[in-house]
Amino acid sequence: MAARAAVLKGLGSYLPPRTVTNDELPRQLDTSDAWIRQRTGIRQRHWADPGVCTSDLAVEAGHRALKSAGIGTSDAVGMVIVATTTPDHPCPATAPDVAARLGLGPAAAFDVAAGCSGFVYALATAAAALTAGYAEHVLVIGAETFSTVLDPADRTTAVIFGDGAGAVVLRGGTCDEPGAILAVDLGSDGTGKDFASIPGGGARERSVRAEPNPDDRYLRMRGKEIFAQAVRRMAHSSATALGKVGWSVDQVDHLVGHQANLRILHALAQQLGMDKQRVVSHIQQAGNTSAASIPLALADAAAQHRFQTHDRLLLTAFGAGLTWGSAALTWPQLTPA
Ligand code: ACO
Repeated sequence: MAARAAVLKGLGSYLPPRTVTNDELPRQLDTSDAWIRQRTGIRQRHWADPGVCTSDLAVEAGHRALKSAGIGTSDAVGMVIVATTTPDHPCPATAPDVAARLGLGPAAAFDVAAGCSGFVYALATAAAALTAGYAEHVLVIGAETFSTVLDPADRTTAVIFGDGAGAVVLRGGTCDEPGAILAVDLGSDGTGKDFASIPGGGARERSVRAEPNPDDRYLRMRGKEIFAQAVRRMAHSSATALGKVGWSVDQVDHLVGHQANLRILHALAQQLGMDKQRVVSHIQQAGNTSAASIPLALADAAAQHRFQTHDRLLLTAFGAGLTWGSAALTWPQLTPA
């Protein structure tokens, strides 16, 4: 009998309606459409309106994923995981609120904070829970409102990040079914914690200064160093996941990497020895949506009928922490919502 595995059953996504093209970015940023397109591939991003939080986007995407999975009864989902670096509050976590608003209480609900790798970390956690028989279904949501932590005067971050949410429903199944998560690899290196961070808002802030510095609520990023690490770490993690599942690079039909920069995705493909045609990119439309970027890219590609049932997908991500992770899966028969 085939080994137990988590199987992808539903997929949903949500982008807030307000688009901001490169030309619409604030003038004070001293940037240009040409620079942003050439250095990142980004043409536009979506920013949530004031008052709209990460949970609001997560609920929309979660609702759509449940619809795509055909799940109507609340007791079928035993766990809700929200991967985010921009939670509604430092405490409590965003996931219990999202679960309640989706009518999924009393499901287990918690956040995963692993930067842009958050979705892959959450996927791995969900897969472990399902193979252990903890739940019948798990809802995994990657949701972010990075626009709320961008310094409007910092062109090295303000042009890159966007808001959005993507979600998947996983069920317990077996390895031979299309949609099975067949291997995962996760890793971290905390010595790089200052490469991308939001310095304020935590316990450390109280121990270093009496009064909070308002600028410390903004994301600070050392882009060049992250770029180099991202390519190296994702290539290594991808190779590890492929080794676990026994696939060669040539057998991978689609590379769905974290959407941080189109140049990073192409450099990663080159390092893996894969042609660019197999790289899935959504960054042009949505920017870097951190933990939401992989499910958003999956939903966009699926909506364009880019994936066939049984296709082999490699997901890989790198982000603040530093963290990284990869997952190998086959594509199921599903309609994204
Ligand atoms: N517009 C115009 N010029 C700019 C801009 C801008 N928006 N941003 C930087 N520049 C300038 C710099 O000041 C620099 O000028 P100088 O040569 O006069 O000093 C020049 O452009 C080159 O800057 P670099 O930093 O070398 O540019 P690079 O090609 O590396 O691109 C970028 C910067 C886009 C940030 C890239 O490094 C990148 O994508 N890094 C990865 C980011 C990432 O993966 N983040 C995810 C982790 S964050 C998380 O997990 C929450």
